[in-house]
Amino acid sequence: MNFKSFKICVFASGRGSNLQAILNAIDNGKLDCEVTFVLSNNSDSGALEIARSRNIPAFHLSEKKFHKNSFEESLMDLLDKFNPDLIVLAGYMKLIPEKVIKKFRNRIINIHPALLPKYGGKGMYGMNVHKAVFNAKEKISGVTIHLVNEKYDEGKIIFQKEIDISNCKSPEEISEKILEIEHQVYPDIIQKIIEGKILLTEDAGQSKN
Ligand code: GAR
Repeated sequence: MNFKSFKICVFASGRGSNLQAILNAIDNGKLDCEVTFVLSNNSDSGALEIARSRNIPAFHLSEKKFHKNSFEESLMDLLDKFNPDLIVLAGYMKLIPEKVIKKFRNRIINIHPALLPKYGGKGMYGMNVHKAVFNAKEKISGVTIHLVNEKYDEGKIIFQKEIDISNCKSPEEISEKILEIEHQVYPDIIQKIIEGKILLTEDAGQSKN
């Protein structure tokens, strides 16, 4: 079956390696969708560069430039224009405005580089997560993919994978090991959503691996 009409948009704040993994999976025929636009709150985000290099519409939209309402309105305008089936957060560090959550309820997913509900919440992103995991001397960390709701990292978990980090000697090593797995599992889970093998509802069952 051809799902190419399935449209996703990707929100990212940083280097954009998960966006790159998604695009690679599309190129390799493992992910059957189109990235209609990429959005970042950070004008220097690598994700914007990656998108522009492939002629994917790329937008820098930061709350700092707006009053809250016009930021929300601009974001809603973009979403109305491109009308994605799924919003994919890939290293996006900002809270999604309530209006967007309401309109896209159960159609926004996020990837988190630890085993939620541990090491989640405001301020727990990127290296902050790995530093906390390292300082707590955890032997196991992992990847979580979850639905996005009004609160940081609290939406329904749809996928988790545990990763042995007992041989990692620094937060950087943990980050590297986990990122490699993120790049494999995020495109896979998106494809399962497209195929209806994972249903996005608040009471959806969790897929473990
Ligand atoms: C990834 O490790 C992702 O899980 C994490 O940020 C990194 C982004 O990397 N996300 C969070 O911490 C969200 N709370 P990337 O820009 O190279 O894809």
